[in-house]
Amino acid sequence: MKSFEFLSIRYNFENNKLEILDQRKLPDIEEWLVCSKPSDTIVYIKQLSVRGAPLIGIAASMSLYQYVRAENPNVDQIIHVSKELREARPTAVNLMYAMDEMIQVHLVEDHLTRDFSHENLGKLAWKIIDQEVQMCDQMSKWGATLIQNGENILTHCNTGSVATVGMGTALGVIREAHKQGKNIHVYVDETRPLLQGGRLTTYELQREGIPYTLICDNMAATLMRDGKIQRVLVGADRIAQNGDFANKIGTYSVAVLAHFHNIPFHCVAPLSTVDLNCQSGKDIPIEERNPQEVQGASGAFGQVRWAPKESKTFNPAFDVTPNNIITSIILDSGIYNQEQLKSLELLKLKKK
Ligand code: MRU
Repeated sequence: MKSFEFLSIRYNFENNKLEILDQRKLPDIEEWLVCSKPSDTIVYIKQLSVRGAPLIGIAASMSLYQYVRAENPNVDQIIHVSKELREARPTAVNLMYAMDEMIQVHLVEDHLTRDFSHENLGKLAWKIIDQEVQMCDQMSKWGATLIQNGENILTHCNTGSVATVGMGTALGVIREAHKQGKNIHVYVDETRPLLQGGRLTTYELQREGIPYTLICDNMAATLMRDGKIQRVLVGADRIAQNGDFANKIGTYSVAVLAHFHNIPFHCVAPLSTVDLNCQSGKDIPIEERNPQEVQGASGAFGQVRWAPKESKTFNPAFDVTPNNIITSIILDSGIYNQEQLKSLELLKLKKK
């Protein structure tokens, strides 16, 4: 392991200090939170200070490594802590993937000896980070081949550098197309209830000088009807074998709208987001969150509540988009269209 600094996570090897940028406070306040022990990281993951499928996996891996280096625990303790980290949020499979890599599940399956030294865990954590950066680059390049000059692209939630350690997934494609001079413009869904689009995607696009317009989630239909959107790009938290995928709540509505208006709709994610344990979207566990998030809003400005606090709420953090309304899934290994998804191409790919 070595020291590193990405947009929303950093580590100092000298003093074993791990920090994450508090994404709840963006865009106005850039405040770093110290993860001193795995229980801190678990709280930060749950409260979405650190968020985005790839990044929570990385934060958990680094937290496990840091703990082993600091405390020199025994194997049972390491496995116990990895389980606690793994359970911090239920939907993004990248978290489970990262923990399986760290505790070397594949070696258990082959009855081989695992190495829990902090040196080895450091290597494994860095491998996850390095792969993530490369997969972001590859997805972005594949995705950009689809983008035509002058397109208006709608995106939902945040899938950029604050959610990964690379260029991002859907936002990586946007970034790459912009870099290639394709003269694109982005419509950003604000993404209620936690406003990842309104706070984080705008923050990243603003920093990069990519032209964008922020809209409320309920405005996309009007723009689509008026021919103002040529493509939709979103990320994923978990993709089932058949291409059904879970992503931020509201993604399904956007997919239905895009389907109705004949607008290409793509999901962009690394292969590590494909979960072979899920045959279809029905098998993906969906996180339900605190009613307060729907009764009002919170952020750098504090907590505001507009509904009666007794209001009954429904607050799933994610929804599932079925394969029959997806144009394609863009992975680091290539682009897979609806027919390929339905014929379980992802299953074959992952089993290779
Ligand atoms: O609840 P969040 O903010 O962690 O949800 C994030 C998303 O749904 C993203 O679209 C997904 O994780 C992909 S991030 C590259």
